[in-house]
Amino acid sequence: MVSAHVDAAQVLVASNRGPVSYAVGEDGALTAKRGGGGLVSGLSSIGQRADSLWVCAALGDGDREAVRRGAVEPGVRMLDIDPATHAAAYNGVANSVLWFVHHMLYQTPLEPSFGPEFRTQWAAYEAYNEAFARALADGAADGAAVLVQDYHLALVPGLLRELRPDLRIGHFSHTPWAPVDYFRMLPDDVAEQLLRGMLGADRLGFLTGRWADAFTETCVRYLGGTSGTRIGVHGLGADADFLRERSRRDDVEERLVALRERVGEGRKVIVRVDRTELSKNIVRGLHAYRLLLAEHPEWRERVVHVAFAYPSRQDLAVYRDYTAEVSRVAAEINSAFGTEGWTPVVLHVEDDFARSLAAYRLADVALVNPIRDGMNLVAKEVPVVSDEGCALVLSREAGAYEELGEDALGVNPYDVAGTAAALRSALAMPVEERAERTKRLAAAGTALPPGRWFADQLAALSASAPADT
Ligand code: F6P
Repeated sequence: MVSAHVDAAQVLVASNRGPVSYAVGEDGALTAKRGGGGLVSGLSSIGQRADSLWVCAALGDGDREAVRRGAVEPGVRMLDIDPATHAAAYNGVANSVLWFVHHMLYQTPLEPSFGPEFRTQWAAYEAYNEAFARALADGAADGAAVLVQDYHLALVPGLLRELRPDLRIGHFSHTPWAPVDYFRMLPDDVAEQLLRGMLGADRLGFLTGRWADAFTETCVRYLGGTSGTRIGVHGLGADADFLRERSRRDDVEERLVALRERVGEGRKVIVRVDRTELSKNIVRGLHAYRLLLAEHPEWRERVVHVAFAYPSRQDLAVYRDYTAEVSRVAAEINSAFGTEGWTPVVLHVEDDFARSLAAYRLADVALVNPIRDGMNLVAKEVPVVSDEGCALVLSREAGAYEELGEDALGVNPYDVAGTAAALRSALAMPVEERAERTKRLAAAGTALPPGRWFADQLAALSASAPADT
């Protein structure tokens, strides 16, 4: 039986960012912080097995110190890769090239431009992938299952297959996959290396059929096919039990009271919660809100846009500039329309999970308008937590749209006027309709909770491995 077989094998996970990070305090003591979010909770189910291993990179000084002191928690192996190599692989290739390709973020008249600097970074990316492959090969028992995560580690399956042909290797992409003509911007040898690296896996997982099909088409175009590697779709859902319990705790209640006060009595609330990530399209969202206020003055004083935009990838200048632009546009709207007793945009840029949950509960409208997104869990979480039902304005370019599209108000993320119109319809949606749609959205968004998402992949990997047939 598949499940018995899965239970018998050791399981390893590999990802750039691990489940825990460390900081050194002023007194020299190390403190550990566990990561949040669906990915960590889904993958964390491996922690229940005594022999499991999560291999990740040491990302900062605290992590490196924890490695040096041998203080990393059991079940986690942090790789202390040379900082310059890691920076070139992570910032130079993974974040500035692969992320840009899959999310279609380039302003193509000037970028990308693949010269000698890129080649140096690519060599670092290879070295960083090799370090992961070696660590996994060292840590894996005979016949173990290894689940490699994301574009950071695209070469690992092929490298690991060479070192350890006995392993079952899966790879999961949490991002979209680029349309083949966009992917073709990459230098041909790099593109082929990436594809062959991934095809070293027994099985590749994607969040939606759309991304899986784009990958297959890319392989057909470059290599004539997927060389027998199985492709599967696993649409990660929100963790309903966790969210319902967590969003009713005291710290969330306190923040809810504060937010209500900030918004003001009787006003509707449009909420967005994102990392300040170029693909999230926060600036066009603000432009759409401004258009709504400009063209429909009846909404002035009657609505507040609560926008939480948490820092992300601040090592990259383009992210810092984007973060500044978000603040600039929000301030511009407030100075153009704000009045004594009404602040049209309430923007927060410090990460506070309890406050995000409070905003989810309060939302009349959730705005999720990414340019392109592998899934987008916020779209799935808000309906679960919402107190009184919430209309969802959702980009058709988010993976979540495949599952939620029927009950959301779909938007083309580039169409600012269209987004403004959708916000207006969402604000005007009758309460009963909103509540009904929210119920259906919550059911669809929690259909595959993180624990099952992970278990299904393991079972499918086991079923598709040659050793099993
Ligand atoms: O959301 C897609 C994703 O690839 C996640 O799987 C991953 O956790 C994140 O993006 C990477 O973000 P960061 O660069 O902050 O680690």
